Amino acid sequence: MSNLSSVFYLVSAVLFILSLRGLSHPTTARKGNFYGMLGMAIAIGTTVASPGVLSYKEIAIAFIIGGLIGSTIALKIQMTALPQLVAAFHSLVGLAAVFVAGSAFYNPEAFDIGAVGSIPTGSLIEMALGTAIGAITFTGSIIAFGKLQGIVTGNPLVFKGQHFLNLIIGFVIIGLIAKFCIVQTPEYFWLIVLASFAIGFLLILPIGGADMPVIVSMLNSYSGWAAAGIGFTLSNNLLIITGALVGSSGAILSYIMCKGMNRSFFNVLLGGFGGEQAVASSGKKDDRQPKQGNAADAAFMMKNCSSVIIVPGYGMAVAQAQHALREMGDILKKEGVEVRYAIHPVAGRMPGHMNVLLAEANVPYDEVLELDEINRDFSSTDVAFVIGANDVTNPAAKTDKTSAIYGMPILDVENAGQVFFVKRGMASGYAGVQNELFFRDNTLMLFGDAKKVCEEVIKGLEN
Ligand code: TAP
Repeated sequence: MSNLSSVFYLVSAVLFILSLRGLSHPTTARKGNFYGMLGMAIAIGTTVASPGVLSYKEIAIAFIIGGLIGSTIALKIQMTALPQLVAAFHSLVGLAAVFVAGSAFYNPEAFDIGAVGSIPTGSLIEMALGTAIGAITFTGSIIAFGKLQGIVTGNPLVFKGQHFLNLIIGFVIIGLIAKFCIVQTPEYFWLIVLASFAIGFLLILPIGGADMPVIVSMLNSYSGWAAAGIGFTLSNNLLIITGALVGSSGAILSYIMCKGMNRSFFNVLLGGFGGEQAVASSGKKDDRQPKQGNAADAAFMMKNCSSVIIVPGYGMAVAQAQHALREMGDILKKEGVEVRYAIHPVAGRMPGHMNVLLAEANVPYDEVLELDEINRDFSSTDVAFVIGANDVTNPAAKTDKTSAIYGMPILDVENAGQVFFVKRGMASGYAGVQNELFFRDNTLMLFGDAKKVCEEVIKGLEN
């Protein structure tokens, strides 16, 4: 049976790898999801069928309750609320790690790791690390959930000596783990849990709401490492492999996001940046007046040109303008205009934010192109229709070494024949940097809510 279990676990592990591969592109994401579900079904089936299971009653009850809660949430959840849902789920993974470590500590015989008071040091280290990472993930994810849901303020909550306090608690946890491995008493186990709860809370509290996606991805990585830690405690190879996959993919995603935002990971982690209100503004007020257009002008120009690139950003998500935008694109295509969508890796506020919204509005995948695939085409494009995007088009990223976004790759919309910016006013974006493009000769501002402006352009196109 154990050989057969190993084979099934190996199949699951391969399916999880295929799942990650599939999820890396919108066209294969559905297949990726399917592989993940199949891998998980095989993993659960194999575990439940193992001879170590003493009673099926509790498993069945947990299965029904968990399944019902999971499917209800999946059916009801709004696409825009996914980041906080992911944060909430991570908190459960963290808590599960603490519970499993606690069970192994109180009943080591059941886990085949010696007896109470004489657990091998290796197992104690795994247990203590799994507990600490799990407890940090738990409170950290709860704060992340609270911030994204608007229950806790999205502004960075900073106080003097915060980083020093975190450092001290970090050292205290290391000391507690060392002592726990020597004395093996419950007090030290629970002290590790409490200190880790505290640091999880303190680490995430100072981070601004807009940096939360990076943090959620980092917590995702933590939850993976916590699961891998439990895998060692349970001698479960699949849990070790899956935990490592989640841990490393979460870490890589956090890195990619930081790179796309031109922020260092430590800069995000140390907090105090990223709250919408807390972001530094460019300082001096600009009195220049941009050229203003209207929806009818935009409709006329786009109808009579040959190519349009649409650049969506955070404002499109706020206005939920994706359906109206797709309708606009469809009409333009019927008029013989080539319509494509350019997606910046950090447009919006979470990874794949624009892709998810455009997919929800049934925009064909082949019209949606990444920065590298489309950036050179702006110079041969008649119109760039920038809707609710700002930072991701700002040339200061290339020219102004003092700018907060210097070094961030941008979409070169300025090279298009005509640029339309759809936004409500002259406010800056997330990074708080003035966008020079608003004042260029080939720019026309279309002021208004993104959805409303799209609907007006559609009217203009239909006339
Ligand atoms: P931003 O630079 O934040 O600009 C969004 C613009 O949308 C604002 O200037 C705002 O101007 C406009 N807007 C807001 N509501 C609107 C509405 N209802 N209708 C029309 N316009 C509206 O967005 P971006 O270009 O997508 O750049 C993303 C930024 O977020 C980058 O700086 C990135 O580093 C950061 N970030 C991204 C992520 C990820 S993973 N995507 C995570 C954290 C941070 P008005 O107020 O004048 O309308």
